[in-house]
Amino acid sequence: MTREEALDLLHQHVKNQNLIKHMLAAEAIMRALARKFGEDEEKWALAGLLHDIDWEETQDTPELHTVKSKEYLTEAGLDPEIVQAIYVHNHVHGIEPKTLLEKALYSAEELTGLIVACALVQPDKKLASVKRESVLKKFKQPSFAAGVNRDIILKAEEYLGLSLEELIDIELSAMQEIADDLGL
Ligand SMILES: [Fe+2]
Repeated sequence: MTREEALDLLHQHVKNQNLIKHMLAAEAIMRALARKFGEDEEKWALAGLLHDIDWEETQDTPELHTVKSKEYLTEAGLDPEIVQAIYVHNHVHGIEPKTLLEKALYSAEELTGLIVACALVQPDKKLASVKRESVLKKFKQPSFAAGVNRDIILKAEEYLGLSLEELIDIELSAMQEIADDLGL
């Protein structure tokens, strides 16, 4: 599946523009992580870009989140390794991620939400103004962006061998590179 085909499919299922931006952020951070680990960048980027494709349909039924995605993406002919990584990333299923791709998607995409929230509290609301230290500080304040699951993010240490600081650096710069697309 090409990126263009993936975007078409994404727009068929997702109408909320903020959710589309979340997928673009996930695409960027997955691409950066693939580069870091010497893995297939296009493959990892697709996993990020499509990972929440069924979110709008399953927001009231968390146990179905990624079950629907698996259906749609398999039907669309997406590489089964990417489909499986997307399926496993819904931690409600309680499936332990096995491959590096599964581990990366599972533990890394959650942080994008915190980084966006950090940008929105800057005076200029720009990602360019966000520093690693401010993300770290907000990470430690549970009431800030309370929906962001800190425990999942901390799994990156075990799964990817990345400290929280390293993960923030990789994700922040990947997101800063596409700041215009994210509207931040
Ligand atoms: Fe997500």
